[in-house]
Amino acid sequence: RVTTLAPHRWQMAPYACQRRTPLLHSNQPLTEALETLAEEAGFSGSEGRSLAFTRAASVLKALPGRLSTLEELGPLPGIGEHSRRVIQDVLEDGVCAEVERVKLSERYQTMKLFTKIFGVGVRTASRWYQEGLRTLVDLQERGTKLTRQQQAGLRHYDDLNTPVERGEAESISRAVQGAVQRCLPGTSVTLAGGFRRGKPHGHDVDLLLTHPEAGREAGLLSRVVSWLDSQDLILYQHSQENSYALQEGPEPPGGRDVMDRFERCFSIFRLEVQGGPGAARGWKAVRVDLVVAPISQFPFALLGWTGSRHFERELRRFASHERKMVLNSHALYDSRRNLFLPAVSEEEIFQHLGLEYVPPAQRNT
Ligand code: CTP
Ligand code: MN
Ligand code: MN
Ligand code: MN
Repeated sequence: RVTTLAPHRWQMAPYACQRRTPLLHSNQPLTEALETLAEEAGFSGSEGRSLAFTRAASVLKALPGRLSTLEELGPLPGIGEHSRRVIQDVLEDGVCAEVERVKLSERYQTMKLFTKIFGVGVRTASRWYQEGLRTLVDLQERGTKLTRQQQAGLRHYDDLNTPVERGEAESISRAVQGAVQRCLPGTSVTLAGGFRRGKPHGHDVDLLLTHPEAGREAGLLSRVVSWLDSQDLILYQHSQENSYALQEGPEPPGGRDVMDRFERCFSIFRLEVQGGPGAARGWKAVRVDLVVAPISQFPFALLGWTGSRHFERELRRFASHERKMVLNSHALYDSRRNLFLPAVSEEEIFQHLGLEYVPPAQRNT
């Protein structure tokens, strides 16, 4: 009996928040190529194009095995013409000429150099590029106007672009734990961001603070930061007060990613180190984000601050398009029934959304 095997086709749910995406996957060369194009599109202000490449990469990260031919992709959701061409090039030749061109281009390299400065976004970097600036030395020599944040970013450029190891993140977490115990005993400190997803290193340390008694957390952050500062642990910080009021109602659905309104602090810590790049000095600069959430909003804050960014974006898109709900880092609002849906855990938020729970280690989209 002769059987003709139909070519294997992968199945995949359309939203990244419906999929399990582990940290390690089998299609690294493909996702790297697509993410380079996503980054380049972002540098050009083409958000839509950037998102298309990010979506395609996200689909490949969730595949259970290595893609060997374009045919296997079949009609997988979210992979457009352009991305398919890139995938085909990499599968056939190991590289994609378009991607290699981008990586070598002066504009891409300069934009990367500048956006790696803490406090410099695409717009500022792009303006500097237009003005003919190309190096970090150019910024200094031509007397470019810098914010206090950018000055700190430039001063600690090398340290801040050296990956933060998990051990370093844990050590910073302990230092903050010590500070909050002095300022408000009972406060919990949770490591969120990439480390919570199981990444072995990251670009910063994201810490979420809350207290089991509602209201006690108000004003906590400034006391914690003052104490850490008095211990010479802080090289730079700027804080922002809580500006969220539930009675204002949720952000409109489909609105663009607005930053949440928790009491928060963007900082640079001075971390004592034994080895690594800062060993001679004995310390290293590390970016730390501190966020304070009232206990009732904590599960939403934890979900929102665990990432990945694309996972968060997809969760919000799913909530709005499939459920007519508005999700942010503070709350979940049901627009059909006109009510907020409270939750005491991340699991409960997934339940409200009618989504299967995705643990943090599977949110690496
Ligand atoms: N986040 C946010 N508002 C910001 C910055 C970040 O809500 N102004 C959220 C992002 O949605 C993300 C999480 O905080 O899910 C962590 O962001 P970030 O530190 O930038 O990324 P990580 O995933 O932690 O990756 P890395 O290891 O590079 O730090
Ligand atoms: Mn195209
Ligand atoms: Mn982070
Ligand atoms: Mn962060």
